[in-house]
Amino acid sequence: MIQGKKILLGVTGSIAAYKAALLIRLLKKEGADVQVLMTESACDFITPLTLATLSQRPVITTGFEQSNGEWHSHVEMGLWADLFLIAPVTANTLSKMAAGQADNILIATYLAAKCPVFFAPAMDVDMFHHPSTQANIEKLSSYGNHLIAPAAGELASGLMGEGRMEDPEKIVATLKSWFIQSKDFKDLNVLISAGPTFEAIDPVRFIGNHSSGKMGFSIAEEFNRRGAHVTLVAGPVNQEASGDIDRIDVTSAQEMYEACMSVFADADIIVMSAAVADFTPARVSPVKIKKREATLAIELKPTLDILKEMGQIKKEDQLLVGFALESDNERENANEKLIAKNCDMIVLNSLNEEGAGFGNTNKITIFTAEGEEFGFDMKPKAAVAIDIVNTIAILKISRKQV
Ligand code: CTP
Repeated sequence: MIQGKKILLGVTGSIAAYKAALLIRLLKKEGADVQVLMTESACDFITPLTLATLSQRPVITTGFEQSNGEWHSHVEMGLWADLFLIAPVTANTLSKMAAGQADNILIATYLAAKCPVFFAPAMDVDMFHHPSTQANIEKLSSYGNHLIAPAAGELASGLMGEGRMEDPEKIVATLKSWFIQSKDFKDLNVLISAGPTFEAIDPVRFIGNHSSGKMGFSIAEEFNRRGAHVTLVAGPVNQEASGDIDRIDVTSAQEMYEACMSVFADADIIVMSAAVADFTPARVSPVKIKKREATLAIELKPTLDILKEMGQIKKEDQLLVGFALESDNERENANEKLIAKNCDMIVLNSLNEEGAGFGNTNKITIFTAEGEEFGFDMKPKAAVAIDIVNTIAILKISRKQV
């Protein structure tokens, strides 16, 4: 199951760094492509040459190679990887990851990575149990990172207790079972819309909105990771999707409608997270509108409601998920939309919650057509995407659908 996977292995300055050699050997034996990143202090414990030889790739220890001027892009590495394993991770690196302090290539890559991240702490027992370390671990887990808890036993300090990095065999087994378990949408076709639409007023101006597309892109990546064939219809956004995703770029609501409808019939699951314009200019001026008058009235006409159209024609075995962004009477409005648009599920984001909506985090409540309600805490959008996909999985199982 690890065969062909692209794995970034981050190694930090712990005595357990020597175990990275065994980790690489095991991952390579399973057929993974391993790229090692080391912090400066990790190089005091094991040489980059050893890990480069075992991984059959040059080890990256800095963003910039003085010797040949080569620049290692943390963003590209983050997009390349199917999984980022940081093992061993010291208390120091945990703290910097939790704070987002990117003062080395490993943490810069961690912040840029869009793939799942696993981290295996290694430290002395008292350091591990210190409230700061525990709070950092909790924070990192709440961001959707996966903790591989340290084992208890004799530590390098001579003390006994928790803090020993988990055995490489067990770490690889954890990754393997995660890759296997996580294929619950294998071979299903999933259609996702994301981002805003821009409605042209004239050749240079448009009506748009603040949607970044992050939520829809994160959902697309999560479905792809879990084995689905994903088609992502994206409005004008500044986002890159990692993984194997068919992307159709569109600009206007009409283009989004046409792109979505071209794949709708074959979709098993449809998630409409795009912030589609409800209105578009009745006429688009072929030339730039001049500032001749003190006021300007632009006549608008309604766009097609893509979600509603889909709700009217969907087949019983198709699962349709809508979004509702509300500023008042949130629950009532969301449930009304669920019924009016004939959705199976609606994801409510409240504009009244600080941190929910257009930024990097979101706080959602999900309502199903069966009348169930699932509430979630404020989380980064990648973690929210996991909650949404998990809830779709639950609904799919409960209905024995798709
Ligand atoms: N939607 C759509 N096509 C549109 C407008 C909205 O597919 N032309 C979808 C969105 O992608 C989202 C859901 O409908 O999944 C809800 O969108 P929202 O703007 O919250 O609701 P509206 O129905 O437009 O109602 P209102 O703006 O009055 O709240």
